Amino acid sequence: PRSIFMSRHGESQYNVDGLIGGDSLLSERGMTYARALPALITENIGDAPLTVWTSTLQRTIQTAQLLPYTKLTWKSLDELDAGVCDGMTYEEIEQAYPEDFANRDEDKFNYRYRGGESYRDVVVRLEPVIMELERQENILIIGHQAILRCLYAYFHNLPQADLPYIKIPLHTVIKLTPKAYGCDEERYTLPI
Ligand code: F6P
Repeated sequence: PRSIFMSRHGESQYNVDGLIGGDSLLSERGMTYARALPALITENIGDAPLTVWTSTLQRTIQTAQLLPYTKLTWKSLDELDAGVCDGMTYEEIEQAYPEDFANRDEDKFNYRYRGGESYRDVVVRLEPVIMELERQENILIIGHQAILRCLYAYFHNLPQADLPYIKIPLHTVIKLTPKAYGCDEERYTLPI
């Protein structure tokens, strides 16, 4: 049976600084993850074919760099666009846009950042990615927190209201193996 592997990019400089969005590079810890990932994947999959999908953002491309597989970049896999809040901390957002901050807390799935996107918007833009995923064999997606929440919710059929709170930790590979109904799941966390 084919599997869909998904992982967030390794820890980025923005993750270290608590900033959302952006296009920063990996931190030293993130680089350690990128170096450890090829062995984890290869041991899991053996010599079966695999294609790696990344976003167009540097932190996913850097995380995938050492993987010995064919790679494809998708603009549709870029992280949820935080609009005017891109590059801010959550505290700065709360200060600058208190009403928005409260509204997001109230309905995180539907809240759309000023000049940016909502989770609902992301679900729509991921439709072609999901269509292609349904047709493919083994795929490894190196993605972003909000994006992987949407894909994970799709494969496990989770309700929209829960989707923005799904835990997708850093430095963890989630392996989904679709069955007749639903998916089997395994997780591999690297102690980095
Ligand atoms: O902090 C990392 C990050 O990927 C941000 O770029 C993004 O805005 C955020 O997580 C999404 O998570 P949440 O919807 O919980 O703010």
